[in-house]
Amino acid sequence: MTRGNIYFDFNATTPADGEVLKQVPQWLALWGNPSSIHAHGRGPKKLLRESRRSIAKSLQCHPLEIVFTSGGSESNNMALKGLLTALKKKNSKRHRVLLGGIEHPSVLKQIPDLQAMGFTVERIPVNKNGQYDLKFYQEKLDDQVALVSVMLANNELGTIAPLQTMISQAKEVGAFFHSDMVQALGKYPFSLQALPVDLASFSSHKVYALKGSGLLFIRKGTPFESLTQGGAQERGRRAGTENTVAIASFAHRIAVLDSASFAAEVAPLRDFFESSIAKEIPGVEILGQASPRLANTSCFTIVDVSGESLLMNLDIRGFSVGTGAACSSGNPEPSPVLLAIGLSRDQAQSSLRISLGKDTTKAEVESLARALAEVVVHLRKLQTEHEVLHG
Ligand SMILES: Cc1ncc(COP(=O)(O)O)c(C=O)c1O
Repeated sequence: MTRGNIYFDFNATTPADGEVLKQVPQWLALWGNPSSIHAHGRGPKKLLRESRRSIAKSLQCHPLEIVFTSGGSESNNMALKGLLTALKKKNSKRHRVLLGGIEHPSVLKQIPDLQAMGFTVERIPVNKNGQYDLKFYQEKLDDQVALVSVMLANNELGTIAPLQTMISQAKEVGAFFHSDMVQALGKYPFSLQALPVDLASFSSHKVYALKGSGLLFIRKGTPFESLTQGGAQERGRRAGTENTVAIASFAHRIAVLDSASFAAEVAPLRDFFESSIAKEIPGVEILGQASPRLANTSCFTIVDVSGESLLMNLDIRGFSVGTGAACSSGNPEPSPVLLAIGLSRDQAQSSLRISLGKDTTKAEVESLARALAEVVVHLRKLQTEHEVLHG
């Protein structure tokens, strides 16, 4: 039963905004192929051009530095493989890649492919608070490093990476820098000028736009090889007819995003939630609390209670919450992010993530905190009864 549930999983996805839904019919009416040069192609082509211009203005980059994709995962794959394939073609001698220790699976699962291409891949460790080991990073940076990829905001912990420092250190040795900015967009103020990455990934469905669009920012002059062969769309950097409706919705949302106001509105709700559960529930540990974090995200462990049981019990009571990325896809393995910050498998499996949205209310957060406390009491009671019966 999820229909009437209160949603606390906005880092997983967001509903399409009402204004987006209102405009969908007019975007859908432009159903022609934007690559067609006849009348039916001109409308969607204009929509695409205007969307690209508008996004470029918001992100402070040039329209031609934007390549539309299907979402964050594709953008991350294109960023790493597209750059490294191009470098190989240019006979670059750089053969090392440094990846953040808590990247999204769409980055980390590329490791075997990158190794097969001849690259040595190392992960930059993080501490208990999700903070990068910058000493390790600096020691590893040399003129053999082709690429560094570190996400701006982590999807599970919400922790923010010190990208300004990391980018400037990478530049000193001539390495390219990619950042997965999927979770930061709309929640954490940044600009592609202040954070001069070479490549950055974004996804539409995290910002109340339609699903099925994303983009890869490729700074002018960055070597890049298309991973898809076919038409000349996106200036030959990604073959395939563009999803104009989703792209238009993405552009609409990016234009109205106000990360600073969003953060100011949700931070007190998140802090209220965390202080309530810390007070009411024995054995709660809030993760990443000592780091700069997204204001909407709270990830925590509760001693001796399974995160999966918590999630299912809350679901029955009308609350949709999240666990680690791996668990949420039906995989019983503990979250690699939580293992990477040094949690044991048991601790990682006792975790839950809540992520607030732009319309989340104090009353909703209060009712979740209350329900969570009740569920924990219930599950601990069951556990004690089980131990009494079975020793
Ligand atoms: C940090 C991060 N990167 C990438 C992705 C993948 O984005 P998409 O679902 O658009 O492929 C996600 C989605 O969960 C994410 O949170």
